[in-house]
Amino acid sequence: MEYVIAPSILAADFCILGEQIAKVQEGGAKWLHLDIMDGMFVPNLSFGLTVVSSIRKAADLFFDVHLMIEEPVRYVKEFAEAGADGITFHVEAAKDPKATIEEIRKFGKQVGISLKPGTPLEVILPYLDQVDMVLVMTVEPGFGAQKFMYDMMDKVRALRKLSDEQGRELFIQVDGGIKEETIRDALEAGANSFVAGSAVFKGDIPRNVRSLLQIAEEYQS
Ligand code: DX5
Ligand code: ZN
Repeated sequence: MEYVIAPSILAADFCILGEQIAKVQEGGAKWLHLDIMDGMFVPNLSFGLTVVSSIRKAADLFFDVHLMIEEPVRYVKEFAEAGADGITFHVEAAKDPKATIEEIRKFGKQVGISLKPGTPLEVILPYLDQVDMVLVMTVEPGFGAQKFMYDMMDKVRALRKLSDEQGRELFIQVDGGIKEETIRDALEAGANSFVAGSAVFKGDIPRNVRSLLQIAEEYQS
């Protein structure tokens, strides 16, 4: 199974964003997590298309776009054209999740579906065979630097079991509060994609990425 660290630039210093992304690459990350917030689905605003297309030119990373916006289907084309490689949307925000999945596929992008901590896993199960990744939120979406919710690991375990039973290698991503102390619990539950904002961008960026990657690699072997 492939294990990936996806640093979230929400915690970066936007004054020197290019330099910070170069450091993420230096540390060995292959993905970059881009948190898009609309002030409606979540009570916060982040950044949008201009930032994504600007950094696209400077970064050779898998752009993992996490849409925290109402009716995400409206912006799939724009984010695909701005440089997304994968687009994850929230099941709670989409009137028609199936149509949203089809729209992402239409642009040849990887599809992710996400659920908030209070949303039961059953809500996404009808779409499981149509997506590449499930993002299990381990904090309430909207802000960085919150506490990891250990009780979300039941969802991760149940998903990994389903994926194994179906003979698939589903990407199971966790997002929120991931750091050296919490990533092991997520690994043991069966997650293989780890979003980390503050744990990467506070302090020595390449070192932080390397140490998270190392924990995942040690777990694997
Ligand atoms: C929360 C975002 C996360 C956040 C993670 O809405 O989706 O990606 O940036 O930040 P940390 O790692 O600081 O919890
Ligand atoms: Zn995110």
